[in-house]
Parts: sequence; structure tokens; C-alpha cells
Amino acid sequence: MCGIVGIVGTRPVAPLIVDALKRLEYRGYDSAGVATLENGALDRRRAEGKLVNLQERLEAEPLSGQIGIGHTRWATHGAPVEINAHPHFSSNVAVVHNGIIENFRELRGELQADGFVFSSQTDTEVIAHLVEKGLRDGLEPVEAAHAAIKRLRGAFALAVMFGADDNLIVAARNGPPLAVGHGEGEMYLGSDAVALAPFTNRITYLEDGDWAIVKRDSMQIFSLDGSAIERIQQRSVGSALMVDKGNHRHFMIKEIYEQPEVIGHTLAHYVDFNEQKVALRQESTVDFAKLDRLNITACGTAYLAGLVGKYWFERHARLPVDIDIASEFRYREMPMSADGMSLFISQSGETADTLAGLKYCEAQGQHLAAIVNVQESTIARSCKSVFPTLAGPEIGVASTKAFTCQLSVLAALAVAAGVQRGHIDSERERELVEQLSEAPRYTNDVLKLEGEIATMAHGLANKPNVIYLGRDTNFPLALEGALKLKELSYIHAEGYAAGELKHGPIALIDEEMPIVTIAPHDNIFEKTVSNMQEVAARGGKIILITDERGAEEAGMDDIKTIVMPKMPEIITPIVYALPIQMLAYHTAVQMGTDVDQPRNLAKSVTVE
Ligand code: AGP
Repeated sequence: MCGIVGIVGTRPVAPLIVDALKRLEYRGYDSAGVATLENGALDRRRAEGKLVNLQERLEAEPLSGQIGIGHTRWATHGAPVEINAHPHFSSNVAVVHNGIIENFRELRGELQADGFVFSSQTDTEVIAHLVEKGLRDGLEPVEAAHAAIKRLRGAFALAVMFGADDNLIVAARNGPPLAVGHGEGEMYLGSDAVALAPFTNRITYLEDGDWAIVKRDSMQIFSLDGSAIERIQQRSVGSALMVDKGNHRHFMIKEIYEQPEVIGHTLAHYVDFNEQKVALRQESTVDFAKLDRLNITACGTAYLAGLVGKYWFERHARLPVDIDIASEFRYREMPMSADGMSLFISQSGETADTLAGLKYCEAQGQHLAAIVNVQESTIARSCKSVFPTLAGPEIGVASTKAFTCQLSVLAALAVAAGVQRGHIDSERERELVEQLSEAPRYTNDVLKLEGEIATMAHGLANKPNVIYLGRDTNFPLALEGALKLKELSYIHAEGYAAGELKHGPIALIDEEMPIVTIAPHDNIFEKTVSNMQEVAARGGKIILITDERGAEEAGMDDIKTIVMPKMPEIITPIVYALPIQMLAYHTAVQMGTDVDQPRNLAKSVTVE
């Protein structure tokens, strides 16, 4: 949820740290800060709000020093105000931290009893004082840091700097990611490789339980018991180019427009368009014929992609699927089949709840598989089979292109499973692959509807409540449309299975209630039309997303209709995601919310 950076350098590091923090701002942006050390004196600048406020602070009051740490925050403990911004200090110690120290209250009580005075409401401050306590007890800096790290319970990625040593940062990881970058006479720390891309692409990822001694010309890794550990140094693929918005107003709309291209890239990784067959790569394949169950675990939009996947695996491969949101799954203690596969879907590959679900399935001896957008992420590195989405960096906090790429992978896997399990013959496979190959073209066509969708957004802007309806694979899209509207425009919205409306929610319908119905013309279209008529009879304002035939056969006056092209059924969830994304985007723009960094959110939720 936060981004941390550290540099043991040979030049003034404050501006370098800020540049690296800019690449991590998507992880949290409540406040930010930098600390450096020069001539034995620790100093820091912190600012509430976006990173630009810290930059202004540093321009007014520059920081010198060739060693430093920095942080961009998503508040977990303590309001997002300057006093709670990292880095946190004790007399001779500075700390930045991403995660949650679960035993911080116990530690704080112990430290206060030892005379330490706390200046913030954060859990992180206990780390600084705990290390300081070790120094006061006569420990050397490294020993003091190691002793403190052993006391911590919870999730943390942290970096500790010492007033007494301008060639030392101690780093530790237990949960949230932490990467070490190897430079020429400099060493770097970052929450991910993209942050370090301007300095180096030689990266070592710390694993859970690792702590490291980082100096200008060396880096040593240890386990908690103090034994030395070797971790591989790899070449990161993190882009050195700062992802920018191009000529788009927001990252989100840029990423919506990237979908035809990245869906095409992603599908091309899984199907052979020439041979018109599914072609899973050797390094990530799995024998679906040997599976008797598939368990899908994810959060948020990734979970909703999995919900669509459930319909596809069961329909095309006759493979029973259990699916659960990760925050519930991790405590369910679900009995699991010895011949099951557990599939984790995650854009960031670092979501704490999803990772916790993964650890449960690992303990259950499951075949672990992941659909991830960050190939070097913790979830990717923890699974036997990894199915990448090739969406590129997704900066907008609201997931768009990652979602449609997740759907693209799921569709390809469901077809592959159907073939392997003998439910899809070569002719049907050719037909389905042909249909999948049309997804980029149809998504590109649908982008042309943006203008009319923006107009329709006026019907949602400033409404207190909105309902989304859908059936079958459009039911998860209804949930996704509601989630997009909630997280972008802060309007209360709910997605319902269209057939469920009459079991209670229809009581909500009145003249003020917009209802967005997602219903391509298919074999259950008439059922959804009946639901819409029930809504219209009670004054509900309907926006129908359908195709030409659906628009004709809906036979309803004074409803607004987004007419989509007629397309093969298997790609409708992928292509119909775009109008619901654009509807939420334009509603948020009209309401003036912060589209790329909505309030209270972060791109990667690496705490419980
Ligand atoms: C999506 O718009 C949301 N920002 C959020 O629900 C997100 O999908 C969820 O936090 C899961 O993130 P992940 O895909 O990185 O695991």
C-alpha cells in the first residue's frame, strides 16, 4: 500500500529518491517524505498529500547527503497528515515501512515504559525506537536492527538508516515486496523494480523473512536466525521510461484505449492465430484433464474476472470451479481436492489477501497457478504455472486493461481446458480461437462509442444510488460496473443478477434510480427484458447496453441504449467491459473526482 525507496549513493540522493517515489505513487499518495544523512546528522522533509507537495518542500528547503530513504504513504495507522508521514525518527535512527506491525501496541507500551516519547500515531514509529533501544543497550547498528526485526509481527517491508553510519541501510521483508538494485558503487532499495529502473536493471528480490545489510559496494542477505542466504540477481524488465499519459487526460482513459492492443498481445501469447488453436507455453502449462476441481481466489476486479472464468471453465471444459474473494477464502479452511488446481488472479501480484490464500493452498498441496500482470511479483514467483497478462504497467488505480487481459487469459485457458478434457474438438477449437481473435477489433470499434457514453454519464453523475444488472457472464460485469462507479465517482452502486432483483432489491426502485442493464441479445435476453419492464413500471431510469437486435427487441420507450456491435458470445464479457469502464470514467470526470488516484484507494493492497 505504500512505496519505499533507499539509496546508498555517491551523489546527492534526495532528488533521486523523489524520482523513484514518483514511480511508486500509484501504491499510495496520502503523504510522502525523504530523510538523508550528512556529517552524522539525520534530516528529513515530509509533506501531506501528493508527492508534488514534498517536491515543493524540498525545493524550498533542500536536503543534502549521499545516503537516504523515502516513502509515499497509504495510511493504515494514523490520519494522512504530516506528523504521521514517513520517514519516522528516533534519536539516531530513521525508518520507512510498508505494511502493518500487528504487535505495535505491545511494543509501544514497552518502549514508552523505557522512556521513549512517540510523536505519531503510526505503527512504524515503534520500529525506529526499537532499533534506538538496541543502540542504547550497546548493540552495533546491524545488531540493533536485527534484534528489532525479530520482535516485529505482521507484514513489513522496511529500510533503516543510522546517524552513526553513512554507508549502511538495513532492509527487511516479510510480506510486501522489496527489491535491491545493484548499481556502480551505489546500492538501491525499492518496493518494485520499476522504481529503480532509472538507476539499474540488476535486481535482487528479498523473500519473506529476509533482512539485508546494504552498503555502497555490497549487499548481504540473512534469514531471521542470522544465517547468510543467497538470492539470485536478475535483469529486471521494468521499463526505464516513466509511464506517461501521452495525450490523454488521465491514465485511466489512456489505459482504456490501450485495450485493443494489449488484449491482442495477451491473446497472442496463448493462441496460435495461424494454426487457429490454443498454444499454452511449455513453462506454464498444466494438464487440465487430470484436474477434478479448479479453485479461483482473488480480490476486487480480479475476482470479478475470475467469476466470468467460472462460467467459461464449467461451460466449455465441464470443470467444476469454486471461487471466493481472498479475504474470506484465507480463513475458510476449505477442504481441497488432491487433484485440484488453485488459480490466483492479481494485477499487481502483491495483494496480501490473495497471497494469504495462496499460502493456504500451498499447505494443502494444490497445484498453484497465477494470472498476473507483474511477472516478477511475489504471487508469480510463488506459483508453478504462471499465465501472464501482457497489459503493460497499469497506473490508474481503477483496473481496466488488466481486467480485460485477465478475461482474455481465462477465455484461452477455458478453451485449452475444454480441448484437453475432450469437450472441445478441433473444429470447435478453431471456431472459438477465431472468435477470440476478433476481440481486439471489437474493442477498438466500441471505443468509438465514448462520446455518447459520456453524454449518458450525465444520467448517473450526482445520483445517490445506481443499480447494475446482468445475467450469466454479464452478472460479473454488472458487479464490475458497480465497483468502477463506486471507486471512481464515490456514488453508491450495486450489481445484481437480473433475476435476483425481484427477491428484494426491486424495493429500491423509484424515479430517481438509474439502472444500467448489460444484456447482449442471447438465449436469455427475454428474461432480462422482463426484469427491465418490472423496473420501468416503477419509474426506474434504464440504460441498456445491448446490440442492434437487443435494441430492437427490447421494445421499451424512453430508455437510453448503448448499441454494441453483434459479436461472438465468448468475447462479449471482454468487449462489454469497455462501455461500463467509460460510463464510470465519464461520471467521475463530470463529478470532478481524482480519476487516477481516487480517495482512500491504492493500486496494490499489500496489507490485510
Ligand atoms: C480495481 O478497480 C480495484 N482497484 C481493486 O478492486 C483491485 O482489482 C483489487 O485490489 C485487486 O488488485 P490485484 O489485481 O492487484 O490483486
